[in-house]
Amino acid sequence: MAPRRADPFKKAFKYRFTELAPNPLSRTLSRIHLERELKALGFANCRLELVDHHAAHASAAALCSGFPEALVLTLDGVGDGLCGSIWTWKAGELTRLAALPAGRSLGIFFEHVTNLMNMRELEDEGKVMALANFAYPIPDAENPMLEIIGVKGLDIVSPYNATEMFRALKAILWRYPSEQFAFMAQRVLEKSAVALVREALERTGMTRLAAAGGVFSNIKMNMRLVELPGLERLFVFPHMGDGGLAIGAALAANRTLHGATACRLPHLYLGPGYAAGEVILSLGAVPVSSGKADATASLQPETKEGEGGTEKTGAMSPCFLKDPAAEAARLILAGEIILWFQGRMEIGPRSLGHRSILARPDNRAIKDRLNLLLKKRVWYQPFCPSMLIEDAPALLETEGQELRDNRFMTMGFQVRPERLALMEGVINVDGTCRPNFVGDEEPRYRALLLHLKEALGFGVMLNTSFNLHGEPMVCSPDEAVEMQRRTGIRYLIMEDWLIENTSTEIP
Ligand SMILES: [Fe+2]
Repeated sequence: MAPRRADPFKKAFKYRFTELAPNPLSRTLSRIHLERELKALGFANCRLELVDHHAAHASAAALCSGFPEALVLTLDGVGDGLCGSIWTWKAGELTRLAALPAGRSLGIFFEHVTNLMNMRELEDEGKVMALANFAYPIPDAENPMLEIIGVKGLDIVSPYNATEMFRALKAILWRYPSEQFAFMAQRVLEKSAVALVREALERTGMTRLAAAGGVFSNIKMNMRLVELPGLERLFVFPHMGDGGLAIGAALAANRTLHGATACRLPHLYLGPGYAAGEVILSLGAVPVSSGKADATASLQPETKEGEGGTEKTGAMSPCFLKDPAAEAARLILAGEIILWFQGRMEIGPRSLGHRSILARPDNRAIKDRLNLLLKKRVWYQPFCPSMLIEDAPALLETEGQELRDNRFMTMGFQVRPERLALMEGVINVDGTCRPNFVGDEEPRYRALLLHLKEALGFGVMLNTSFNLHGEPMVCSPDEAVEMQRRTGIRYLIMEDWLIENTSTEIP
C-alpha cells in the first residue's frame, strides 16, 4: 500500500498504544469482543482461553522444537506490551525468566531502519539484511547505531523510546551510504541477540534454544547464534511472525487444558487445498488432451489437424501428466521457469514446494529473467534453493548442525566453495544461501529433486514464491491460471496437469 499522509501519526499512536501492557480492563474488553466475533461465526457455547502474545510465540517455539528442555527466546516488534521474553522449557513447563518491555525493541529498531531506507516496514527487512552484505565492514568503534540500542544482562537497553529512536536513526542516515547504514543496523541486531542468548545460556545452563517472533526471520542473525560456543542446537519456529500466533495460542491452551507438551512439524502444508474437480474447472473451456504429455513428451504446443493444415488448439493448452515430477525436471533442466502448484498451500512466510516457482539453480541468466518477468526483486536480494536433505552436507557447510531443526528456510548456510558454480543462481554475494531441506514429507517434490540429481549430481533447484512482486501469494487454481495468463509464463504444472501457455511471445 502506498504511504499516506496520516501514516506518521498512526505509527506514533501504534508505538505508544501497543507499548501498554495488558490490564484487567483491556483483557475484559478483548474477551467481550472475541466472544462477540465467535458468536457471529456460530461458536455460541465455546470456552475462550486468552493467551498472552509472547506466551503464544514461546509455546510455538518450545512445543514444536522437539527439545525435552531448552532456553526459549521470543523477539519481535511489539505485542501485549513486550518486544520479547526469555523462558526455560523443562518437564513440559514454560517458566518466564524475563520480560522485555516494548519501549526498547530490536524489532522496532530494525523496522525504523527499513522505513528510513524507503522500504516497506514489516515487509522488506530481508532486503536490509541482504544489502548489508555489500558494505565495507565497519568496526564497532565507528558504528554509532551501537549507542542507540543494545543488551545489558537479560534486558534490552536504549536511551530512546520508539519515536525518539526513529529520529536518532534519521540523524545517522544522511552520513552513510545505504549499504553501510544497513550493515551497521544488521551488526547491532546480531550483536544484541548474541549477547542476550549468551547471557541466558550462562544463567540457565541450557544448551538448546527454541526461538520465535518476527526478529528470527533474520537468518544472518540466526547464523551468528548457532556459532555461540555454548549452544548445541537452535530451532526457529518456521511461522515465526505474528501469523504463527494462532498455532502458538492453540498449543498453549492445549498444554494448559490437556497437558499436551509436544507438536511435531513434519511439514507446513496446512493451508487451503483444492479438490481435483476444482483444478479441472479452473482450466475452463480450454481443450484438454489426456495422456499425451509425459516425461518424454514434446515441448511443442498441442496441435490438431485443420482443413488448412496444422493450427494451434488454443492459447492455454492443458495435458494430463503421467509423471508430473519427471516432466517438471525435464523442463527445468531445459532452462525453463516452472509455475508449480500442488496440494495444500504452505503456512508461514516461505514457499516450500506447493506454491512455488522453480528453475535451475546454476544459471544467473534464469535468475535475471525471473526478476524481469515476475519477481522484480531488488538486484541484491538472492533467490533461495530447495535441496534434498541428504545432499545438504555436500553442498553446504553444515558441520555441527542438526539440519532437521531448521528445514524450512529459517537458517543461512555457507555454500561449499566447490559448489558455488552449481548454486550460482541461489546464493548471496557472500556465498551464503537460505535453503529448504526436503525429506520424505512431500513425495512428488522430492521425486522432482531426485530427477534433477540424475543430471546435476545433486538434488537442488531454485525455489521462489508463486506470486508477482508486491502481490499476495497465489492460493487457488483459478489464481494460478490467471497469473500464468497475465505473465505469459509458458509452463504451469498444477497437480497432474501441464498447462502450456502459447498465447504470448515469451521474453
Ligand atoms: Fe509478535
